[in-house]
Amino acid sequence: MEELKKAVAKKALEFIEDDMVVGLGTGSTTAYFIEYLGKLIMEEELEDVYGVPTSYQARLLALENGIPVVGLDEVDAIDIAVDGADEVDPHLNLIKGRGAALTMEKIIEYRAGTFLVLVDESKLVERLGQKMPVPIEVIPAAWRAIAEEIEVFNATAELRMAEKKDGPVVTDNGNFILDARFHHIEDPLDLEIELNNIPGVVENGIFADIADIVLVGTKDGVKRMER
Ligand code: A5P
Repeated sequence: MEELKKAVAKKALEFIEDDMVVGLGTGSTTAYFIEYLGKLIMEEELEDVYGVPTSYQARLLALENGIPVVGLDEVDAIDIAVDGADEVDPHLNLIKGRGAALTMEKIIEYRAGTFLVLVDESKLVERLGQKMPVPIEVIPAAWRAIAEEIEVFNATAELRMAEKKDGPVVTDNGNFILDARFHHIEDPLDLEIELNNIPGVVENGIFADIADIVLVGTKDGVKRMER
């Protein structure tokens, strides 16, 4: 699996050119991309490339690997954003947010000229929600009210608990995460909009109609899916 992640991360470098502003995603696959991109910058094979991190993880990795970092509010445009995903359906709709970074990821990826997604073949599904819950970032005081509200969608929601901290996961933005399991996601775009309409929801992990290209690491090489 690690080899497949490395292969897609290497392939993604082909999309990066001098003078680009690059959105840097979160997660284990993008971590390889950040490492390889940093190497090209340090070796001066790429010039004037800047990274806009989607999380503290991406920011720390970028700094560690020599990528000049800029904030979203310091750039006029983002040429390309590169990020992983938890599920990809045949229409390139995604579930993201296993790493709890979905809100900044969506803001940056929505704004990018091209959103390039890096996955291994285990992430491909026929229908979103088949394997993974939909993460929802919520204002802490509203978590229980929102969890109850979500039952209306024939779903169950669980407050995500931290592993090396007592209590719930707190996101980079200071919020909680609900993981919602839906019985059946018929229309991802519709559900994405409806979830964001619940007061107290900051953002949800359905990324419908945003991805432009998906690179899929398979045992037979890297495959490309495009809309
Ligand atoms: C972070 O919040 C997530 O959206 C990740 O981008 C996603 O979980 C992919 O991570 P991996 O590349 O580690 O599978």
